[in-house]
Amino acid sequence: MAGQVHVSRHPLVQHKLALLRSKLTEPKKFRELVREIAQLLFYEASQDLALAPLTVETPLATAQGYEVAERVGVIPILRAGLGMSEAIINILPTVHVWHLGIFRDHETLLPVTYYNKLPKEPDIDLSIVVDPMLATGGSAVAAVNILKAWGSRRIKFLGLIAAPEGVRALTEAHPDVPIHLAAIDSHLNEHGYIVPGLGDAGDRQFGTG
Ligand code: PRP
Ligand code: URA
Repeated sequence: MAGQVHVSRHPLVQHKLALLRSKLTEPKKFRELVREIAQLLFYEASQDLALAPLTVETPLATAQGYEVAERVGVIPILRAGLGMSEAIINILPTVHVWHLGIFRDHETLLPVTYYNKLPKEPDIDLSIVVDPMLATGGSAVAAVNILKAWGSRRIKFLGLIAAPEGVRALTEAHPDVPIHLAAIDSHLNEHGYIVPGLGDAGDRQFGTG
C-alpha cells in the first residue's frame, strides 16, 4: 500500500478491534470500543499538529507549555462516523465538528449525499474525515470531494476497518490524503460488505438493522 496509508500496530488498538468485530459485542460496548479505538487512532494521526508556545501559572511558579496551534475540523460521515467524532471532541475539545450525511445506495453501492451544512468559507486548517468503514471507498471519496470543493487544503481520513478496494479507490482519487486505520481486511463480498469486517457499523452502534 502507498506510503500515505497507516495501519496501527498498537497493541491496545488490535486488542480492542478484535472485541469490536465479535458478533457477541452489544451496541453499548460496541460504541465504547468505537470511541476508544478512535481516540487511539487520532492520537497517532495527530502527531504532526503544529504547536504554539504558551505560558501558564502553576500553583508554584510560571511554566512554559504548548497549545495546539491549528484549527482542526472533524467531519463525521453520518451515521457511523458519529461515535468517532464524539471521541475526538472529547480528547481535543477545540475541534469543530461538521457533519456530512452520506449513505450508500443498497443496489448500486454508490454514495448519496443528503446533508451538508459546512459554513460558506473553510474555517479550519486540517480536516479529518471519520468513518469506521472504508468499503468501496465511494463515501470517503465523495466526502473528500466535498471538502476540497469547499476549499479545505489539508485533509486526513480516519477509519477503523478498510477493504483493499476502498484503500485503492481513496488513494487513487486523493493521493494527498493520508489514511489512518486499525486494519485492512481481505475483500468485499457481493453485497459490498467488508470480510471479515464487523458487519454494519451504523446498525451495530445504534441498535438498528
Ligand atoms: C456505511 C459506512 C460508510 C459506508 C462505507 O455507511 O459507515 O459510510 O457505508 O461504504 P463505501 O466505502 O462503500 O462507501 P451506510 O451507507 O451504511 O450509512 P449509515 O452509516 O447511515 O448506515
Ligand atoms: N458499511 C458497513 O457498515 N460495513 C461494511 O462492511 C461495509 C460498509
